[in-house]
Amino acid sequence: MNLKITSFSEYKEVYDYSVREPENFWAEIADSFRWRKKWDKVLEWNFKEPSIKWFQGAKLNITENCLDRHLEKHGDRPAIIWEPNDPDEAHRVLSYKQLHDKVCQFGNVLRNNGVKKGDRVCIYLPMVPELAIAVLACARIGAIHSVVFGGFSAQSIADRINDAECSLVITADGGFRGAKDIPLKDIIDDALVQCRSVQKVIVLTRSRSPVSMIKGRDVWWEDEIKKVETQGNPPCPVEIMDAEDLLFILYTSGSTGKPKGVVHTCGGYMVYAGYTFANVFQYHPGEVYFCTADIGWITGHSYIVYGPLSQGATTVMFEGVPTYPSPSRYWDIVEKYKVNILYTAPTAIRSLMSFGTGPLEGKDLSSITKLGSVGEPINEEAWHWFDEKIGNKQAPIADTWWQTETGGIMISPIAGVTTTKPGYATLPLPGVQPVLVDENGKEIEGNGVSGNLCIKFPWPGMLRTTYGDHERCRQTYFSTYENMYFTGDGCLRDEDGYYKITGRVDDVLNVSGHRIGTAEVENAINMHTDVVESAVVGYPHEIKGQGVYAYVILGESVHDKELTRKNILQTVTRIIGAIAKPDKIQFVSGLPKTRSGKIMRRILRKIAEGETSNLGDTSTLLDPGVVDEIKAGAL
Ligand code: WTA
Repeated sequence: MNLKITSFSEYKEVYDYSVREPENFWAEIADSFRWRKKWDKVLEWNFKEPSIKWFQGAKLNITENCLDRHLEKHGDRPAIIWEPNDPDEAHRVLSYKQLHDKVCQFGNVLRNNGVKKGDRVCIYLPMVPELAIAVLACARIGAIHSVVFGGFSAQSIADRINDAECSLVITADGGFRGAKDIPLKDIIDDALVQCRSVQKVIVLTRSRSPVSMIKGRDVWWEDEIKKVETQGNPPCPVEIMDAEDLLFILYTSGSTGKPKGVVHTCGGYMVYAGYTFANVFQYHPGEVYFCTADIGWITGHSYIVYGPLSQGATTVMFEGVPTYPSPSRYWDIVEKYKVNILYTAPTAIRSLMSFGTGPLEGKDLSSITKLGSVGEPINEEAWHWFDEKIGNKQAPIADTWWQTETGGIMISPIAGVTTTKPGYATLPLPGVQPVLVDENGKEIEGNGVSGNLCIKFPWPGMLRTTYGDHERCRQTYFSTYENMYFTGDGCLRDEDGYYKITGRVDDVLNVSGHRIGTAEVENAINMHTDVVESAVVGYPHEIKGQGVYAYVILGESVHDKELTRKNILQTVTRIIGAIAKPDKIQFVSGLPKTRSGKIMRRILRKIAEGETSNLGDTSTLLDPGVVDEIKAGAL
């Protein structure tokens, strides 16, 4: 069997095979990777504990698959093309050989700074090639990386560093995003006040903004590289990893107040990221692939770094934002590098759509042959715009549904191979067994049905645990429905058996493709001294997909509500980061609660959505009058 499926009939055949003989199927896929030692057993699992082990007994290093194995034949092929935030700054191209050298150098730097296999390293860097280099260098020496998105606050970073007990942090003086210069090192300094586990901080020069370097703790990236060079550039032997050794931790929001560290392991994740990349995008050698995500999120991990590099692809990495210096930026990049495959998010599409076709005028997008979308449901209007204006109706759109926890794409068209349908993630990839269930956990069979989306059989890219708290992993994903992984998403399966993801069914928001827990935002708002209580829900937002709507009860002594509103926004920015800032804050005197004190979010959601007539049964409320007041004051 080939790694890549190339026709619809083959898809059906391979899909059936993957369900009938999953272990054989995955063993054949895994055969196309480089292993130091093959596995003794393909799969051992139960979803009760859960305990999931893929390719037990196998030995590997993912960076040999992403780098070394391409050197002999394709060492000069561009691995990373980096486009800076400022279009006037020079871009950079790193061939596989150059990337390999840099990863080895930095791997040695990490080893010189005391990092060993199994140590946790926090990476807080802008979207520069050194971010990919740092990630791969960790993987090479067996350190577990925990990348934190550059938009998170000092408090969020501190929580993540402490949870994983990171011993080293890699950051930069600052980073550029659009017109902003983000003082990354200052933010790290604030975070580290609370972090006892961190021994060393490696600081990359990027923005040249002044920073304070703490003696004995902080060192410059460039100085450390020089030390390695003067040691005569020793090779950086890979750490040979067991398939189930940890590769990375990535924090993501759930329905409780505290983000959880999703754990991925070396063997299964590698196979899954590579397999899905090769198939969904039907990548052919020489094609230029551009994923607009940030490496701070799972999409960047799997589809900027590991997936494409494992397949010897050329991956474009962009430091900036789609609207800077103008809303033509993506199209300029496509033209400049003759991008063949563009993978982006509905929120970016909607935002660019709002500028009309002006920014597209005169731009040559003819290199594009395949498109992808990820992160949230794509509305039909945005789908058609993407198809017509960007793909010229010639480029299939892979609407890829997946999650941080799934490690890679689960349900998606295979570009040019299976059929697309606007707004639909369509069909599961071979190896993925989705099911819809009702509230009682009963499987809903047949077509033309909706329910909660679960997966009933393991796949190699799935999470293994949540770092330091296995019980939480069990509770969150494996306890709602017996013997199934619960995704937290609602889903429809149409008459043709095609899947359409309808959005979260838990208390998680998807704001501009970023996952944000309502409880996290509430906790942050409640930190403000003037706040007595708050409740946060999502509402439909034209560009962001969902906006954050906060109902807030203030204390008696507040006189200047406008000032308090600003202060609350400031507080959320400080506690979580600007991405979680409420779009709307409505001050209320009470919240709709049941007699047992539970907030009736259903009602708050409806009001936020602008639906005030059909609120359902409010008779169980402690004080039904409060609903009228909230309705009257709705924003
Ligand atoms: C949502 C991002 C509809 C979904 C890779 C999921 C989607 C959450 C799609 C995971 C899609 C992602 N259509 N919804 N194509 N892709 N989602 O962990 O609600 O940041 O549960 O992973 O995004 O977000 P995460």
